[in-house]
Amino acid sequence: MDVPSPLTRLSDHKMILGLFLPMQQGAWSPSRAPRSTSWTFDYIARCARMAEDFGFDLAFGLAQWLGKGGYGGEMRFREHEVDPIIANAALSSLTKSIVLINTVHVLYAWHPLHLAKFGAAMDHISGGRWGINVVTGYKPSEYRMFGLEPIEHDLRYVMADEFTTIMKRLWAEDEELTFEGKFWKTEKAFLAPKPGSRRPFLVNAASSGAGLDYAAKHSDLIFITSPAGADPAKTCEALPAHNAKIKGLARQLGREVKTVINPHVICRATEREAQEAYRTILDNEDPVAADTFVQTLQSGDTASWRGHSRAQWVIGGNVHLVGTPEQIVEWLARLYAAGCDGVQVNFFDYLPDLDFFGREVLPLMRQAGLRNP
Ligand SMILES: Cc1cc2nc3c(=O)[nH]c(=O)nc-3n(C[C@H](O)[C@H](O)[C@H](O)COP(=O)(O)O)c2cc1C
Repeated sequence: MDVPSPLTRLSDHKMILGLFLPMQQGAWSPSRAPRSTSWTFDYIARCARMAEDFGFDLAFGLAQWLGKGGYGGEMRFREHEVDPIIANAALSSLTKSIVLINTVHVLYAWHPLHLAKFGAAMDHISGGRWGINVVTGYKPSEYRMFGLEPIEHDLRYVMADEFTTIMKRLWAEDEELTFEGKFWKTEKAFLAPKPGSRRPFLVNAASSGAGLDYAAKHSDLIFITSPAGADPAKTCEALPAHNAKIKGLARQLGREVKTVINPHVICRATEREAQEAYRTILDNEDPVAADTFVQTLQSGDTASWRGHSRAQWVIGGNVHLVGTPEQIVEWLARLYAAGCDGVQVNFFDYLPDLDFFGREVLPLMRQAGLRNP
């Protein structure tokens, strides 16, 4: 049994707009070029509040489990991160309207009753503005940190399906739940209070067949990745079929799932300045951090980000949008036309770049009809 889609709680802008929060040291880019970006809670809170003031729909915090030094290098790339569930609990008191989503690796020794309880609490604290990005974990090292053996790719999604099914039933059903699953059991489990909104947002980030099937069955939003590397023109060619496939899978189950991609935006008043900013990130790469980052992503069994080059990784994010506000909006319109319901943007120097985006790009998105006046 499912309840009405939380998507009805989002404003009816044509294009969903989210911010990928810089939860980890160095955020997306293994580059030492100067910037204000910081993993500290104070900085994250300023980003989330600025995004809310600009009318963004959602802010998202990723979760990763790294060893000492993170991805290494002089910058100890991604070593630090304030836990994103805890951060979102605090952010929900500092914000009023923005939806707060964070990743949870549901297979790292959670029981669905724990996460159902946390989710109901987050839903109450935030006033129905919380969501989980359900991921299954693609790094063997992370499994071993939890004393577990890595699990084969598609089996992970069979397990995530069972986990989510139990969690949804705990949120939705009025009676105690007894469930004899293959992976989790529960006897007479009961959740009170239920989520006030009836169900938190469910999100996942996937590219594989098993990941897309999971999305079609459970998710309200799916974070997709470009099947064609970070070049926006190639991405816009590849995406219509990809997006149509995902939505078709959901429709077959009588559901709706919206697709969201995360562009890295480098926007300046002139194209020359934007290209210079792009070059500066690349010219200052931290070679050790970049090597480790690229190797990790290419060696895992994740189906996402297969088409990205090393240089594209140093910039970071998924598809790269570089140019003037007019050019950025043109690309956003093309991503929408390619079937993306939304974008979740990331930046290099978050606060100034977000401020510029809000002041210069958003008005043009409104003019283009992508966002309401
Ligand atoms: C926007 C986005 C955010 C993601 N956030 C996380 C994250 O926080 N933690 C994580 O381990 N994986 C994250 N991933 C990777 C996914 O977990 C997943 O491994 C990947 O998309 C591959 O898909 P597949 O499981 O279908 O092969 C993210 C992916 C995307 C596209």
